[in-house]
Amino acid sequence: MPALAPSMIAADYGRLEAQAREALDAGADWLHMDVMDGHFVPNLTIGPGIIEALHPVAEEYDAPVDVHLMIENPERYIDAFADAGADVITVHAETCSHLHRVVQQIQEAGCRAGVALNPATPLGQLEAILPMVDLVLVMSVNPGFSGQAFIPQSTTKIQRLRRQLNALGSKARLEVDGGVKPGNALQLVQAGADVLVAGSAVFGGDGSVEENIEAFRSALTL
Ligand code: DX5
Ligand code: ZN
Repeated sequence: MPALAPSMIAADYGRLEAQAREALDAGADWLHMDVMDGHFVPNLTIGPGIIEALHPVAEEYDAPVDVHLMIENPERYIDAFADAGADVITVHAETCSHLHRVVQQIQEAGCRAGVALNPATPLGQLEAILPMVDLVLVMSVNPGFSGQAFIPQSTTKIQRLRRQLNALGSKARLEVDGGVKPGNALQLVQAGADVLVAGSAVFGGDGSVEENIEAFRSALTL
C-alpha cells in the first residue's frame, strides 16, 4: 500500500493540529508540509515554527514529517527544519547549484533527503545524484498553490523514473505532488509512485477528512 501524505497547505491554518489529527486518525501515513518563500514560487507559507508545533502530533502517530522546501537557497534553512522535527527534507533541483552538497547536508542533519523536479525539469537532471537520494518528488503541477489540475504528462515521468530507480536497485521513495485525487491515485501507483501527496482532495470539498481519506483507500484497493 502506498503512503498517503496529506498536504497541510490545504488545511484550515486556524486549526492545524486538529486537522492533522483528523487526517492521522483516518489513516494518513505522512504529514506533508509545504514551505514557500515568495521567490522560487509566487506564494508564502510556513517556516520551521509550524513544523516544530506539529512534530509532536506526527510522532504520536509514528508519521514522518515530510517537508517540501519550495525556497531559494534551501541550504540556509536545512538545519533549522531538521531541528524542528523534519524526517524528510526535499529540495528542488532547480534551486541548488550544488545539489550533491545539499543532499549530503540533509543526510548529515539526520534526515532523509528528497529532490523535487518541476514539471518542466527533465529526469536527466537527477542522473548523477539518483544513487544517493532517499526520495524523488515528481511535481505534477507547477508548485505554488493547492487546488491546481494534474498535468497528465507526469504519469510517463513517474513510469520512467520508476524504471531508473529499479535499474539502480534504489530503495528511494517516489512521491507525486499536485492534483492527486482518488480518481487518478491508482494510475499513479501503477506507474510507480509510492507516496501520494494530496491537499485539496483531503481537506477540501464537501466530505469530511475521514471520508476523503476513505475515498483514496477504496480507490487503491479496487
Ligand atoms: C504545490 C504543493 C502541493 C499542493 C498539493 O505547490 O507542493 O503540496 O499544494 O495540493 P493539491 O493536492 O490540492 O494539488
Ligand atoms: Zn508539496
